[in-house]
Amino acid sequence: MERFQNTGQPDWDWWSKLWPTPGATLRDLGLESGESVAEVGCGSGYFALPAAQIVEPYPVYAIDLNEALLDELEYLADQQNIENVNPVHGDARNLTAVLPERVDTLVVANTFHGVDNQSGLVEQALDAIEADGSLIVVNWHDYSRETTIVANEPRGPPTELRMTPEETKDAVLSASAAAFDRQADLPPYHYALVFERS
Ligand SMILES: C[S@@+](CC[C@H](N)C(=O)[O-])C[C@H]1O[C@@H](n2cnc3c(N)ncnc32)[C@H](O)[C@@H]1O
Repeated sequence: MERFQNTGQPDWDWWSKLWPTPGATLRDLGLESGESVAEVGCGSGYFALPAAQIVEPYPVYAIDLNEALLDELEYLADQQNIENVNPVHGDARNLTAVLPERVDTLVVANTFHGVDNQSGLVEQALDAIEADGSLIVVNWHDYSRETTIVANEPRGPPTELRMTPEETKDAVLSASAAAFDRQADLPPYHYALVFERS
């Protein structure tokens, strides 16, 4: 298993300054109670844990190839009495094989920029979603890295890997029969695209 390019888990000190309320972001993007969820490249759970709180008792499958981050996620889930998050150790390149069941919502947050075979991942992501389910992609805007400052330092992936919303939308729509639902701006430096499986 090999990590996608420039997809290290950010340190929570500056990450939490940038995303003070990840659960509110997920709700704004349409996540509701009673949905099952998978997050591809969940890291230590910055989004997967609040997702689990929103949808409980339905499952959140938190997929990552870094076991140490999944251990941290399990520890944090325990601390927060979250029982419906299921760590899944595996490579997102084999998404449909590692995910135990189809889900209502699949989240790819801060990871898509580094995926080597984006169309392959999108095809599998759509296969992993229920017929009326959603795919949410959260990305850094394609602003130059020097300008995306958090806690006094430039953050995020290298400028050349960043994707415009149009590029991300094209990557998803050209690889699948997904239907574009909407784009949301997530200031100061991010956007999200929501797709429906049609
Ligand atoms: C930038 S972090 C984002 C973590 C989380 N989604 C967030 O937004 O806070 C990207 C995560 O993707 C994981 N990752 C990278 N390549 C992967 C792969 N091929 N399969 C599964 N996870 C992968 C990394 O281990 C890392 O935890």
